[in-house]
Amino acid sequence: MTDTLRIRRPDDWHLHLRDGDMLRAVLPETARHFARAIIMPNLVPPVITGADAGAYRDRILAALPVGSKFQPLMTLYLTEETNPDDVAAAYASGLIAAVKLYPAGATTNSASGVANFDKVRPVLERMADIGLPLCVHGEVTDSDIDIFDREAVFIDRVLDPIRRATPGLRVVMEHITTSQAVDYITAHDTGLGATITTHHLVINRNHILVGGIHPHYYCLPVAKRETHRLALVSAATSGDARFFLGTDSAPHMDDAKETACGCAGCFTATNTMSILAEVFEREDALDQLEGFASLHGPGFYRLDANDSYLTLTRGAAVTYPAKITTPNGPVTVFDPGFDLHWIVAP
Ligand code: NCD
Ligand code: ZN
Repeated sequence: MTDTLRIRRPDDWHLHLRDGDMLRAVLPETARHFARAIIMPNLVPPVITGADAGAYRDRILAALPVGSKFQPLMTLYLTEETNPDDVAAAYASGLIAAVKLYPAGATTNSASGVANFDKVRPVLERMADIGLPLCVHGEVTDSDIDIFDREAVFIDRVLDPIRRATPGLRVVMEHITTSQAVDYITAHDTGLGATITTHHLVINRNHILVGGIHPHYYCLPVAKRETHRLALVSAATSGDARFFLGTDSAPHMDDAKETACGCAGCFTATNTMSILAEVFEREDALDQLEGFASLHGPGFYRLDANDSYLTLTRGAAVTYPAKITTPNGPVTVFDPGFDLHWIVAP
């Protein structure tokens, strides 16, 4: 059996780092294994302008462990007031790598997101012209749509119309959770990619609800039934370059998760590479892990793959801390519910 795996250093194409004490607590967890990450802009208040992104980038760089070469790839939070010239200037200067579309009210800190898609048409057209990718949180928010159907309905009602109306727009459908999303991506091969999280490769909706409510498995988009998880595993392990890793590692303090109205988000930065290796090994697809975690993302974003490498070794089951500590309380590390045997060599 293979017991060593050397791959190009991975990147995380969807990551929440937050700010302040939380940023300082979680950033080393990502910077330990990943060379770069697409940094989500859903702070309070959100990262809307190029100036906001520049200031946030400086705070991230200042919080990095000494000697770390981790590179944050910044994004702007699309609002109905976003100025196309500001977006284009931030991209031209190399500051941002994408713009993020949150439908208003879809998830954590998305109140300033888009309600009227016509209002953002000029920004989307400019992005298509300059080749700047749009990262999409793909869920409708209409109260009459069942939460488990929100992604599939989004594809028909929002994503497909936006793509048809904006030819050339490059889109990443983020954290996909359904076979409908996998099918949509594989049926449209120009300028369309998708990120898949670590946790959606591991959990289905039973993990959240059976035997009591398990708040640390609650995230958005919410995990779906097992057939959808299997579709995600096959997409991730297929070698299809349109699918790549975006952990959506989204830390919340335990007291904000373990409460009557708990926040959405799973924190996977710490053990993602071990979990992915286990998932890929079970599919007999360890040879596809490098593509998924380290090559397909840079390909989509038109960046070079990293020139450094990461080695995973297989051995006895390894344990990770159940929580990381922050000055304001603990954050629970995602528990995959099975033993992990692969560790990243120091
Ligand atoms: C994210 C967060 O906490 O910011 N939560 C989540 O469940 N994924 C927001 C998001 O990406 O939807
Ligand atoms: Zn996210």
